[in-house]
Amino acid sequence: MTNIRVVLHAADGSTREQFVPAGSNLVVLAGLRRFPGLRYSCGMGRCGRCASRVLQGMEGLPPPNWKEERLLGADKLAEGYRLLCQLYLNSDVEVVQDPVPVQPAWKRQGTERRDLRGVRVE
Ligand code: FES
Repeated sequence: MTNIRVVLHAADGSTREQFVPAGSNLVVLAGLRRFPGLRYSCGMGRCGRCASRVLQGMEGLPPPNWKEERLLGADKLAEGYRLLCQLYLNSDVEVVQDPVPVQPAWKRQGTERRDLRGVRVE
């Protein structure tokens, strides 16, 4: 199995470099204490706490999925942000987390988000 190199500059100021198996998800590995500085919460693309800016390796990542598009918005995607919980890595990557979590696009833009029933969602 191929190993890939991951460099994480975490929100707490720590930097961790590790080799992980191809196909790894960093939030899953954080749950296994492999990346203790990584900030995350839901693991499902809903909270944005795992949002990170890709410094190197964007070309090896899949296109953003609908959860990333909805939560990050076009502006943060264009700045190189991705949701680590939505990525299964197959090539080397270096990412940094901002000290303050990225706000969801609907909060930054002052728009409301509604579920399929039309009920406002926070
Ligand atoms: S951990 Fe919540 S969006 Fe990734």
